[in-house]
Amino acid sequence: TNTHNTTMWHYAGYFAKGVGYTLLITVISVFFGILLGIIFALMRLSKNKLLHGLGVAYIEFVRGTPLMIQVMFVYFGIGLFINIPALTSGIIAVSLNSAAYVAEIIRGGINSVAKGQTEAARSLGLSNTQTFRSVVFPQALKNIWPALGNEFVSLIKESSIVSIIGVTDLIYQLKAVQTATYKGVAPIIVAMILYFIMTFSLSKVLNHYERSMRHD
Ligand code: ARG
Repeated sequence: TNTHNTTMWHYAGYFAKGVGYTLLITVISVFFGILLGIIFALMRLSKNKLLHGLGVAYIEFVRGTPLMIQVMFVYFGIGLFINIPALTSGIIAVSLNSAAYVAEIIRGGINSVAKGQTEAARSLGLSNTQTFRSVVFPQALKNIWPALGNEFVSLIKESSIVSIIGVTDLIYQLKAVQTATYKGVAPIIVAMILYFIMTFSLSKVLNHYERSMRHD
């Protein structure tokens, strides 16, 4: 006789925990991704050859290798020296990955501001710093902000890869529910819907802010 409860409702706690971890990893990684992304963007935009080279190398290497292998590298690499929880490793890897993408978002935003804007500001007597602060950067932000929102949404989905090192995110929980219920498909459907609810509602919220920013 089967004594297991196989309704998905019975495992609501598993899914809730999974959603919680997925959002935790995403929110922390978005924060550090933006912080580090600004630094790598400034490095890449720098006139200093060494800083520029290091910035380019980091951004290209991180974007040119799968997040999956980066997650494994951070977990097992740091694990050689200190015992680090899978969750911490996952957050570090996703943050470092996101930083490379954010750096390119920032660089793209700054480069998208027409050169004539800089020339006009400079010929009006503004210094380089003043030109950047009051002419280039405000316009660049208009492109950067929405792209950072997209990155936030992407990380909800991309963070799912941390389940391979045992972080108890939504993918990990869906597998746990599969094991407990002997049901293959139902837990997948539940997790899929939960991912969609997260990305869709975040997009709605971000679009709302974007629209209200455009009106002032
Ligand atoms: N799945 C792709 C990879 O593993 C994309 C990662 C996207 N990362 C990001 N921060 N947007 O390389």
